[in-house]
Amino acid sequence: MAADILQTPLDGRNLISRAEAHAQERWPRLLAYIPRMADPHTTSNANSPVQSLLKEDRIFPPTAAQATALGGAWCASMDEYRTRHARSIADPEGFWSEVAQDLDWFTPWSKVLEWNCPDAKWFVDAKTNICHNALDRHVLAGHGHEVGIIWEGEPKRENGTPEVKHLSYGELLEEVCRCSNALKSLGVKKGDVVTLYMGMVPELAIAMLACARIGAAHSVIFGGFPAPAIVDRMLDAKSGVIVTCDGAWRRGQVVPLKKNVDEAIALLSAQNHKVEHCIVLHRTKNQIDWHAGRDHAWHELVGAQSDECDCEPMDSEDLLFLLYTSGSTGKPKGIRHTIGGYMVYTAYTAQQTFSLRAGAGQVYWCTADIGWVTGHSYIVYGILPNRVPSLMYEGAPNFPGDDRFWEMVSRHHVTHFYTAPTAIRAFMKWGDEHPAKHDLSSLKVLGTVGEPINPEAWMWYHQNIGGSKCPIVDTFWQTETGGHVLTPLACTTPTVPGSCTLPFFGIDAAVVDENGVEVPANCGGLLVIRKPWPAMLRGIHGDRARFIETYWSRVKGMYLAGDGARRDERGYFWIMGRIDDVLNVSGHRLGTMEVESALVSHEAVVEAAVVGMPHDIKGTGIAAFVSLGPHATPSDELKAALREHVSGVLGPIAKPDMIRFTQALPKTRSGKIMRRLLRDVAAGRDSKQDTTTLEDLNVLAALRGNEE
Ligand code: WTA
Repeated sequence: MAADILQTPLDGRNLISRAEAHAQERWPRLLAYIPRMADPHTTSNANSPVQSLLKEDRIFPPTAAQATALGGAWCASMDEYRTRHARSIADPEGFWSEVAQDLDWFTPWSKVLEWNCPDAKWFVDAKTNICHNALDRHVLAGHGHEVGIIWEGEPKRENGTPEVKHLSYGELLEEVCRCSNALKSLGVKKGDVVTLYMGMVPELAIAMLACARIGAAHSVIFGGFPAPAIVDRMLDAKSGVIVTCDGAWRRGQVVPLKKNVDEAIALLSAQNHKVEHCIVLHRTKNQIDWHAGRDHAWHELVGAQSDECDCEPMDSEDLLFLLYTSGSTGKPKGIRHTIGGYMVYTAYTAQQTFSLRAGAGQVYWCTADIGWVTGHSYIVYGILPNRVPSLMYEGAPNFPGDDRFWEMVSRHHVTHFYTAPTAIRAFMKWGDEHPAKHDLSSLKVLGTVGEPINPEAWMWYHQNIGGSKCPIVDTFWQTETGGHVLTPLACTTPTVPGSCTLPFFGIDAAVVDENGVEVPANCGGLLVIRKPWPAMLRGIHGDRARFIETYWSRVKGMYLAGDGARRDERGYFWIMGRIDDVLNVSGHRLGTMEVESALVSHEAVVEAAVVGMPHDIKGTGIAAFVSLGPHATPSDELKAALREHVSGVLGPIAKPDMIRFTQALPKTRSGKIMRRLLRDVAAGRDSKQDTTTLEDLNVLAALRGNEE
């Protein structure tokens, strides 16, 4: 089998070319139940094998030394956590109005919360600006010279050093003002949606803040996506302005961002959607086409502007950004986040979860790409208001060597390191010697996000990266939740490998059955949040019906996360994976239907079914069962062509790990594809599924016989 190209969870780019799937041997305990849990009908079955699979007894209480190293705990004890949590649920308005006082508001709110399920308004009538709270507030308080963003480029010079920039709040503010003025000069105004399709350069954070400053919403598109993704998102958002780069560095190669944008703009104009302006940051200096009048060089346009620009006073409920994420249909959803609640919640979760403290010598590094919600909330919006420098890295974790991250931790004296389980499993695979070569003693808090972490990876992270002295915060949250919803607090919560522990303040989370009734301890069920919280999504852009249907209709009056979960005797939450047709591949969400549509758009394919399969690095890999048309012949070349085709439509993240050609797909007599069966086939398991409804038993036999 050809080596798989794996995408990092966090930058979505080619990470390793040597990942082979040996999931069952590697970490059977966690993987074994995920596909089963993907079926909601088994989630409430107390006899499910799930119940016995995760018996994790190791517990890691935070120590006094850890709290001292972080300048003291924000929450002194679990008793205090319980008291504060109980108050946040009983009196959300009182609780959040106190938290919100720590930020600046131009006009105070008349009411903290207006809740009309599923519509929430937080800090009603208040006026503020998130850019003011991220930058101006610090400059006005005399901290303008302190570092806000540390940036490191991927390429290294001949002497082995990379390009590094330290941008102070004062410098950031000036560049943001210039960028705001540049956008205004192109006619961008309050309420417009500006598309940002860039690499991990500081100008991406600057452009986001510049939009926020003038009241334009941004829609960041991950730089690893191909042109069709730009087309869909710009159309949906009715966005007529895009900011991009000539290219982005990725493992020593240039990703041709501007070329993708040109292609997308051409496709858009064929659909009568005009992209008026394209601002281009020259980063990689690759050859690009230039369309005079439409294209503007960042250094000329932005560079020529005044470094002063007043913040637009924004209503708390004005749109801050759209961020597209996969759902169970073929079309990505534009998740809407508004300003006030998101600002308060991301800043507060960042502070409390990670134990951030301004002026305490902390350096925080989240390795996510800003193209995902993790980068929005925990590189930019949640971190800058806390006045702790946020490290942003441009490239791949294994370029030029497998120790790049650890070298960076040591060089920048990183105190907080936040990454994804997929990345951790890749680090494990690359070998203990890489972190061992570097001084990681500056680290004080480790974090994970994006997917369930298997206890083996948790322990490896704890020992090899954290030197057995750092708390690990396993933060469960979603694009829709805006910020952490289930998470340990670094100095407070005893952790258990594999559990995201307890709800954050203000989060009334539960595991329930279809009727909204809580299930007993250790029984699987649906993860819901029963009360509104400040950073909750405010809708799906342009699709009210889908918003209600996806999140609010299955269990009445509760937010349905779309994940299966259980709570143990301590009340700790264990996430068991998605219950819808969404795969979590390397921590990235992908709709099975998106991949199926991409496959079917290839001329050789008649029908395709896509399911998740265990993968020892990605967590979940993509298995595709494909029926071909009469003129196509199954071959390895065709498999390779299909993988490339999917990559061209959805990006390399979506390349199937396994493609199996089949005469027919296993269907019920009513024509429904039996996905559970396919999941078992893909995982190489003997299926315990009931096959009595299977239309043609021969199909299953054929599938089983047709091993890769
Ligand atoms: C999964 C990423 C287990 C989950 C911030 C969720 C997790 C989806 C965790 C959201 C975690 C995220 N443990 N599973 N700590 N964090 N997930 O929108 O399935 O890209 O629904 O947001 O990732 O993915 P999204």
